[in-house]
Amino acid sequence: MDIEGLDVEREIGRVGRVLGEVEKKRGLLIPILHRIQEDYGYLPGEALERLSKKLGLPLAEIYSVASFYHQFHFKPRGKKIVRVCMGTACHVRGASKVLETLEDRFRIDVGETTEDLSMTLETVGCVGCCGLAPVVTVNDEVLGEVSPKKIEGLIEMIEQEE
Ligand code: FES
Repeated sequence: MDIEGLDVEREIGRVGRVLGEVEKKRGLLIPILHRIQEDYGYLPGEALERLSKKLGLPLAEIYSVASFYHQFHFKPRGKKIVRVCMGTACHVRGASKVLETLEDRFRIDVGETTEDLSMTLETVGCVGCCGLAPVVTVNDEVLGEVSPKKIEGLIEMIEQEE
C-alpha cells in the first residue's frame, strides 16, 4: 500500500526492526547492570553514562530501570553489609535498640556507609530465624540473640579486618 509515495509496508517493517533492536538492548540492560555492580560494588554514574552511549538508550531510562530494582545501588557500599532484622519477633526482642547502638557506634544512619567503606548499615524484614531474635546478618552470616547486652561482641566482629 502506498500513501503519497510512501511504501507503508516497508516502513512498518523498518520501524519493527528498529523497535526489535531497542528491545534487544533493553533485554541486555539488567544483566549488564548486574555485571557493573559485581565489578564496582555499586553502579557508578560514569559507568552508566558509558553504558547509555554504548547501547544508545537514554541515561534517564537506565536510571529508571536500575532504581526499580532494590538490588541496585548508586553509592559505594561497605565491605561488610550489616542488616538488623526488624521483623516482629526481632522488634519485640530489642532490634530497635540494637540498630540504635550500631548507628551511634559507627556514626551513621541506617542506609549509610562508613567513610572508610568498611560497613553499610541496613534493616531487613524477617530473615526466617525468629527463634534466634534479635537477629543481625553480616554479609552472608546470620548472628542470633544479639541482645542489646551482647552487642559488644558483634561490634568487635564488625570492626575486625577480614
Ligand atoms: S523477625 Fe527477625 S528473624 Fe524473624
